[in-house]
Amino acid sequence: MANTTIAAIDVGTTKVCTIVAEVTPHQELRIMGVGVGPSSGLARGMVDNIQTAIEAIASSVERAERASGTRILSAHVGIAGPHVSSMNSRGIVAIGDPRHPINEGDIHRALESARIVNVPTNREVIHVVPRFYVVDGQDHVIDPSGMFGSRLDVETHVVTSSTSATHNLIQCVEGAGVRVESLILEPLASGEAVLSNEEMQQGVVIVDIGGGTTDVAVFLDGAVVHTAVLPIGGIHMTRDLVVALKVPQPSAEQAKTRFGHVIPSMVADDEEVEVEAFGSDGTKQISRRLLAQVLQARTEELFEMVLTEIRRGADPEMLSAGIVLSGGASGLPAADLLAEEVMRLPARVGRPRHLSGLSDLLHDPAYATSVGLLRWALKEQEIMFRSAPAPVPALGGLFKKVAHLMRVILPQ
Ligand SMILES: Nc1ncnc2c1ncn2[C@@H]1O[C@H](COP(=O)(O)OP(=O)(O)OP(=O)(O)O)[C@@H](O)[C@H]1O
Ligand SMILES: [Mg+2]
Repeated sequence: MANTTIAAIDVGTTKVCTIVAEVTPHQELRIMGVGVGPSSGLARGMVDNIQTAIEAIASSVERAERASGTRILSAHVGIAGPHVSSMNSRGIVAIGDPRHPINEGDIHRALESARIVNVPTNREVIHVVPRFYVVDGQDHVIDPSGMFGSRLDVETHVVTSSTSATHNLIQCVEGAGVRVESLILEPLASGEAVLSNEEMQQGVVIVDIGGGTTDVAVFLDGAVVHTAVLPIGGIHMTRDLVVALKVPQPSAEQAKTRFGHVIPSMVADDEEVEVEAFGSDGTKQISRRLLAQVLQARTEELFEMVLTEIRRGADPEMLSAGIVLSGGASGLPAADLLAEEVMRLPARVGRPRHLSGLSDLLHDPAYATSVGLLRWALKEQEIMFRSAPAPVPALGGLFKKVAHLMRVILPQ
């Protein structure tokens, strides 16, 4: 089987990252080209200036095209922002003829029935992710196809987003000349890139701290139980420094990324760093401990919010594999230690793994979402291409296998 290519665009609040990859017959990703550029026209994960956002996306796409020597006609695109919300929903269907095994059509109907949740007209369903199935009361079935039963239930995680915010994002990507193949919720993508199956099984939370948002996804028993997007990220930490230290934004940003820390007691109390400042002198000395105190306050508050979200999905005690941090701001020294202290769970910083080709840049926590978009899309396609089940009388394998694992529905 020949290699196929796949592309993803992560439209972040601070950066836009486009990746083109080859998918080998063994479903491995070989990176052909990456295009990263500064983002524009986005705040808290949402488009607020269509024209500048189109330009930023077009420039990132162009870079990836040049690097890979390919033309990107379509791509999988990440979606986030406080307008996204999620809930768990159960779909139930009766099996027409219990003498025949459950087929893709039955699974499709069960997922469709889970999808019919109370969605207001100004919202779109972007994912219906099956968590597990129940066949005639037999719980936690991973794949019911081929089983016998008279009733099929599916427990799903349904993600919805604001119609206008979703259409604005699609318009920007299409305005940059790229068709949107699917929209993928960013926390789900990040989880796909950095979490192991073992962690998802034992219970884990991915916390992707980006520039404008912090994306959270809670996994238990191998399936997603809760997702949330918090409107706080590294930009807010920089803003706090501008206010506390009275320095310009670029100088605060530089001080944060070069000298930042989130546990002040781990920084020598007499350590001073020089930063560019407002006023006649041009520079000033600031205490690195003070810098750490400001960053600690915001990060601690953020982790408290994350903990509240975790509790909405699961008892934190059940999450044996703890917390995995990703996103650019997870680069703050001791962020994992502070996460352990606040949330009382083991924590580590996660990086995208198992990549080959031109992938050096991508082995960084800031690229978890970008790489995860490819992984999620790949998982979806893998299911689509999996050989169809044995023909079943009434439906004869007409339905795509993709319905079994997940559905990513683009607004019409
Ligand atoms: N070493 C570092 N220490 C602290 N912060 C860092 C470091 N490196 C990057 N950051 C911060 O990470 C943020 C960017 O992260 P990331 O690239 O994950 O965001 P994004 O994907 O553009 O935004 P979002 O996902 O919120 O839409 C910036 O605020 C940046 O200052
Ligand atoms: Mg991001």
